[in-house]
Amino acid sequence: MTDIWADLDALPRQSLTELFDADGERVATYSADIAGLHFDWSKTHLDAQVVAAFTRLAEAQEFDAHRDALFAGAVVNVTEGRAATHVAERGEGGVEDVRQAKAFHARMRALIDAVEAEALGPIRHVLHIGIGGSALGPDLLIDALGREDRRYDVAIVSNVDGCALEEALAGFHPKETLIAIASKTFTTTETLLNAESALDWMREGGVEDPYGQVVALTAAPDKAIEWGVDETRVLPFAESVGGRYSLWSSIGFPAAIGLGWDAFEAMLEGAAEMDRHFRLADWVDNMPLRAAFADLYYAQVRGCETRAVFAYDERLRLLPDYLQQLEMESNGKRVTVDGKPLGRASAPITWGGVGTDAQHAVFQLLHQGTHLVPVEFVACIEPGDALIDDHHRQLLLNVFAQGAALMAGRKGEGARDYPGDRPSATILLDALEPRTLGALIAFYEHRVFANAVLLGINPFDQFGVELGKEMAKAAGAGGGDFDASTADLIRRAGL
Ligand code: F6P
Repeated sequence: MTDIWADLDALPRQSLTELFDADGERVATYSADIAGLHFDWSKTHLDAQVVAAFTRLAEAQEFDAHRDALFAGAVVNVTEGRAATHVAERGEGGVEDVRQAKAFHARMRALIDAVEAEALGPIRHVLHIGIGGSALGPDLLIDALGREDRRYDVAIVSNVDGCALEEALAGFHPKETLIAIASKTFTTTETLLNAESALDWMREGGVEDPYGQVVALTAAPDKAIEWGVDETRVLPFAESVGGRYSLWSSIGFPAAIGLGWDAFEAMLEGAAEMDRHFRLADWVDNMPLRAAFADLYYAQVRGCETRAVFAYDERLRLLPDYLQQLEMESNGKRVTVDGKPLGRASAPITWGGVGTDAQHAVFQLLHQGTHLVPVEFVACIEPGDALIDDHHRQLLLNVFAQGAALMAGRKGEGARDYPGDRPSATILLDALEPRTLGALIAFYEHRVFANAVLLGINPFDQFGVELGKEMAKAAGAGGGDFDASTADLIRRAGL
């Protein structure tokens, strides 16, 4: 087999405007409509030759076999010897995984019904404590979908900095607060410390049995019970659901209780629609795979070290944060599945922000800086606000104008020259609702998976985060063999 990367390097480089001039069907060819989402990848440098080369790579990497293994619940996380069964949470995995996920969902629903029936007291506030994958997903869902008609005040706390917990608790009444401790492992220091402090706050607020207002969302039920959570209020999920893929499981509890069960189910169904697309669509129409082709083209062939995502919708302002963990914790790896050096760039750095704010902060670099940054825009056709139409009109006009300006550029002198030929992809949601948000997140999950398969890496482990955790623990225990600088900093802080 020829070296596909060398083939890609050798391909002629046509500008985006040349690609559009050469192909009147380009928009249709590089667009797709799935589950209430419109994807337009036409303003990227994908063309027939680039797609053909990546198709050869997908064949060489046995993409279909890997995808089938994911959906069958086979061991795809080889370093940890586990399956990755987030698709089963949406009813799309192996039979036994789906059955178990449904049983756990039923348990979650029953507990939510009990809370609503005031079996745990007159609950009005939900304090969700978790970090990383045990917080970012719920936070995104609540912030995006829970702006109106939220049934409970929901606050999500992740940082071990006590300021975060204090801020979250302001305005909450201890006797009316339910604490949801979200931790897959139930060992995470930050989460357990925040949980202890939240219990203290309840005691100080006159709650006689604070544990009676605690639920645990975890894949380690025994540890939660040992910690003090009553068995009836432990909502388990499968060990094979990865932390950053877990918002579909009981980790999504704050969304399910805050937005209502129907909304949670609609989100699962939207994700399932995307699952079916990813599993069944031909490679040529397969949007997560096609997006992965473009990702790899920029990261590997054009040397782009970053990619930027801009949500042109205030309700999706947490999307870039969510994607940072999903993409970088999954594919920021330096070895292949079998532990050999990757020998190529791994995932680019994901960053981004909210439009139009970002236009007035970072877009200068995107238009005229020396870095080539593939940009992704996410916007919704239906407005989220009830103000005069002009707000949403302006928002959408801006996002479309940015994509056009990045691509077309404009000839000028010196500082007034806009080089153009800068790629962007656009995702347009018909409306921001549980179904479309579920489909959007599942799209990103599958795109991460497709990138990983094409590169030959395992997207489901995260050993890189362990070393820092261990060293913090060692320092806390008065041990650790630290360098002179770190030892000095520890001494200065009086630790
Ligand atoms: O930061 C590393 C990590 O392991 C993430 O993958 C995970 O989402 C987070 O910690 C929280 O872990 P847990 O849910 O076990 O508390």
